[in-house]
Amino acid sequence: MGVDGPFHDTVLRCPVCGASFSRRGNSLVCTGPKSHCYDMARSGYVHFAQRRPGGDSPEAVRARTVFLEAGYYERAAEELVKIVSSFRPSGTLLDAGCGEGYYTNRFARTGRYRVFGTDLSKPAVDHAARAAKREENGAFYFVSSLFGMPVADRSCDVVTSVFAQCAEGEFCRVLKDDGILVVAGAGEDHLLGLRQALYDTVSKSGEREDRPRAMRCLADGKIRYEITVRQEHIPSLFHMTPYYWKTSLRDAEKLQGLKELKTAVEFDYAVYGKGSF
Ligand SMILES: C[S@@+](CC[C@H](N)C(=O)[O-])C[C@H]1O[C@@H](n2cnc3c(N)ncnc32)[C@H](O)[C@@H]1O
Ligand SMILES: [Zn+2]
Repeated sequence: MGVDGPFHDTVLRCPVCGASFSRRGNSLVCTGPKSHCYDMARSGYVHFAQRRPGGDSPEAVRARTVFLEAGYYERAAEELVKIVSSFRPSGTLLDAGCGEGYYTNRFARTGRYRVFGTDLSKPAVDHAARAAKREENGAFYFVSSLFGMPVADRSCDVVTSVFAQCAEGEFCRVLKDDGILVVAGAGEDHLLGLRQALYDTVSKSGEREDRPRAMRCLADGKIRYEITVRQEHIPSLFHMTPYYWKTSLRDAEKLQGLKELKTAVEFDYAVYGKGSF
């Protein structure tokens, strides 16, 4: 689906005055009295963030791209699409904290959703938008904080949050009353093999603190399988995890001698309805 369609009217909102948009050439111009104008980048995304740039750095984005494009999480992505489809087979889907659009573009490829992806990292969104343009899958990307998205109230059927922060209040605001939120993140055994290679003692990861509290959990489960990471992808995998920032140089060096890395991939997922939120 192209960006020309009427859906800008129904989904995107001017972050300054809250008015809807119309498209003028390569810009989105709000219909409010001040006609706030946002240019579309060459790759097709729009930069809405008001404050200084944030989110993942170009290096982190590159590392994640290398690893994801090698296909290790393909099975998990397929499963996620199946899970979402079983609850909402079509509709408007917003991927909040979409990174390079690995999962977002998956949803767009099905041809059954009007897909929007947002992230605070400009290089990540640029990468996502380029891929969408190349594939002509119709996904529309924009840079914004997921804690204040330029998205209309009650405009989305599905919000997905994959390995990203969960902004329950904001997600509920943009979801239709019968909309669903699908959250996926690291399970207890996620990348256990990597942690065992790095550390002498491996502790279990604790429960995430930003889990939705007021929404109604409709289903939850695990996507779990084993992968063997080839030597050339081990540094990228390490770089895209939180361990990259927490590991001593001495421990990090342990990865250098590995020919391959066998590890579990374990995504915990949960599907939420708005309930009485
Ligand atoms: C671990 S990555 C996950 C990206 C993608 N969902 C994936 O799984 O490949 C987390 C993402 O959240 C983004 N992020 C961090 N803080 C954010 C915020 N306040 N608003 C929007 N995105 C944010 C980062 O830029 C990064 O792309
Ligand atoms: Zn405006």
